[in-house]
Amino acid sequence: MSIKVAVVGVGNIGSIHAQIYADNKKSDLVAVCDIDREKADRKAGQYGCRAFYSVKEMLASGIKLDGASVATKGEENGGDHYQPTMELLRAAIPVLGEKPISNQLSEAREMVALAKEKKVPYAIDLNHRFTPAAAVARKWLDEGRLGTPHMVNMRMWINNPAETSPWFHLRALHPHSFDVLRYFCGDVESVACFCNKGEGRTIWSNAQILLKFTNGMIGNLAGSYDATGPSGSFGLEHVDVSGSEGRFLLEEACQALTYYPRRSMEIETYRYIGGMLHFQETFKSRIDTWIDQLSDGVADDKVLGSGREGLLAQEIIEAAILSWEERRIVSISEVQ
Ligand SMILES: NC(=O)c1ccc[n+]([C@@H]2O[C@H](COP(=O)([O-])OP(=O)(O)OC[C@H]3O[C@@H](n4cnc5c(N)ncnc54)[C@H](O)[C@@H]3O)[C@@H](O)[C@H]2O)c1
Repeated sequence: MSIKVAVVGVGNIGSIHAQIYADNKKSDLVAVCDIDREKADRKAGQYGCRAFYSVKEMLASGIKLDGASVATKGEENGGDHYQPTMELLRAAIPVLGEKPISNQLSEAREMVALAKEKKVPYAIDLNHRFTPAAAVARKWLDEGRLGTPHMVNMRMWINNPAETSPWFHLRALHPHSFDVLRYFCGDVESVACFCNKGEGRTIWSNAQILLKFTNGMIGNLAGSYDATGPSGSFGLEHVDVSGSEGRFLLEEACQALTYYPRRSMEIETYRYIGGMLHFQETFKSRIDTWIDQLSDGVADDKVLGSGREGLLAQEIIEAAILSWEERRIVSISEVQ
């Protein structure tokens, strides 16, 4: 039997969620909800499901839901997620929220705490690591192909000319980067952040963030809203992890994975692992995983890409901001 789901916020990204739920045989898109009535009505017409104009109204209707995506936006792309997420979690409905979990740590903590208290699955669309290539790289690490992991270098950059808050670039883009970094290297212990403002900009649109991980690894993230060709094309993401026996390079989250042994020239390159061709497909792989987990009755503490992980990524961002504001190395524990 398929699970019944709703999408709250059917703008650009919510529409992607809706299509994926509609396409997946294990899920039945039964409702869309948007404060913009025209958008809600249009999507409901497209999918033959019910339209609601607030979460309160949707819950009061008595509609049965096994899960919901929250793809609202707001300040720094995360300011609007709190209210609908809290309403859904209070009603014990599992939530897949968009990133950033929130632009405010206090709100992120409340959502994670409520989900835990109610034992309700709560996940974040940390789609960049839900790729077959990332899974292979993770397996190489687990099998010891890299030996003892030493260092990581990551680049995540797009062209985003939007000028909102000074920290828009860090808070809106790098939940992905820090989640990918945590996926491969574990928890971060401390950060040192350097920023500048791209030509003609008022926000900190370029950042270099040095990282020390709790397992002893060191690394850096180069992040930018002033880079590459059109957003969504090539050049988005690059992760390079090195260890005592070798290193891997993962390009564009899913497009190419290369293993470089430390002491030989037998380089292995794999392209389009698992048939995934483009970053855009990561939405489907991530949301399909969420659907699988919900269908299997996942326990709240076993959810992949959980709300807690979304919060941990956001804490690294806040530590980086503090580091640049105070021009010093900041321990993650200072913002926890
Ligand atoms: N995972 C990714 O790779 C990725 C990529 C881009 C954007 N995003 C995230 O997706 C989210 C949405 O971005 P977007 O570009 O689709 O925004 P958008 O503005 O196109 O859509 C947001 C929608 O939410 C609706 N909304 C706002 N408050 C609401 C509420 N309380 N109840 C119901 N509907 C409400 C708005 O009317 C709007 O239709 C953002 O958090 C953004 O950071 C994620």
